[in-house]
Amino acid sequence: MENALLPKKAKLVKIEDLSPDVKLLRVKLSNSSFPTNDSGLTFNPGQFMLLGVWGYGESPFGPSSSPYEAGFIDFGVRNVGVVTKHLHELEVGDTVTLRGPYGNGYPLNSMQGKDIVMVTGGCGIPPIASLIEYLIKNRKSFGKIYLIYGAAAPDNLLFRNSYLRWQKAIEIILTVDKPSPDWKGCTGFVNAHLGKVKVDPDNTLVAACGPGPMTAALAKTLGGMGISKRQFFVSEERRMSCGIGRCQHCTCGDTYVCLDGPVFSYDQVEGVWD
Ligand SMILES: Cc1cc2nc3c(=O)[nH]c(=O)nc-3n(C[C@H](O)[C@H](O)[C@H](O)COP(=O)(O)OP(=O)(O)OC[C@H]3O[C@@H](n4cnc5c(N)ncnc54)[C@H](O)[C@@H]3O)c2cc1C
Ligand code: FES
Repeated sequence: MENALLPKKAKLVKIEDLSPDVKLLRVKLSNSSFPTNDSGLTFNPGQFMLLGVWGYGESPFGPSSSPYEAGFIDFGVRNVGVVTKHLHELEVGDTVTLRGPYGNGYPLNSMQGKDIVMVTGGCGIPPIASLIEYLIKNRKSFGKIYLIYGAAAPDNLLFRNSYLRWQKAIEIILTVDKPSPDWKGCTGFVNAHLGKVKVDPDNTLVAACGPGPMTAALAKTLGGMGISKRQFFVSEERRMSCGIGRCQHCTCGDTYVCLDGPVFSYDQVEGVWD
């Protein structure tokens, strides 16, 4: 019987500094492309994979590359602890371990025909970046599309090389807490800029990834705009181990974040895990 916890070996083919503490790691399988699902995607944006270093463990990350790309998968990894420190020490050509994709991802079918607002902060953007690639590839299937993205300072904004390309298809609002003298974007928290978004509240879906206080503030502001908690989808970052519903590291009551999530509508998670 196949061992579901056994990872594949993959090779690091590109490493790039995205910010002072976040690296882009591009991984490739040695002899094959990544398999695709029924929709022709290597993963659904918002799903996660377990990326690791032999001897040090594995951690969940949301892929950031286009889900239509089967030749490689990109991850934006922030150096915060044991596994991520060792991932940051690797070099091009080194081997990593990879399992997944796991979980549900953002509700792509429900998004069809709707205005889409994506809101994220700091290192929450990798899964949103892959969602942006999906939306741009299928641009005609959606109404207005906005990204509101916040970071501590301009240097902490990730995927800066992609903004000009993204801006050809979607509206981008960038905001920082501490602007540099040459900063031309906005300042302050992401929810303070939701008022700039011109969408039809009844036909809008919001996708977010970020810390609990950010999503709680967003839910309140969205409510004032007539966008309900059921139209607001958040990715929950919980400690995970197996990723496949066996270890209970990610559970809250009967809910398994690795199986039932990590993406939930806000009415499902409000006040439950914060
Ligand atoms: C679905 C999902 C998607 C994620 N996507 C990304 C991503 O794209 N890029 C990225 O950089 N990080 C992402 N994370 C967070 C990432 O998994 C953690 O930063 C990582 O597990 C830390 O591992 P470590 O061994 O380096 O840290 P540890 O040594 O285990 O811990 C260091 C610190 O990180 C905290 N931490 C550990 N695990 C998690 C976790 N799962 N979630 C939140 N905090 C944690 C600990 O409480 C501690 O403060 C994601 C997490 C989940 C659940
Ligand atoms: S991570 Fe093991 S049950 Fe969810």
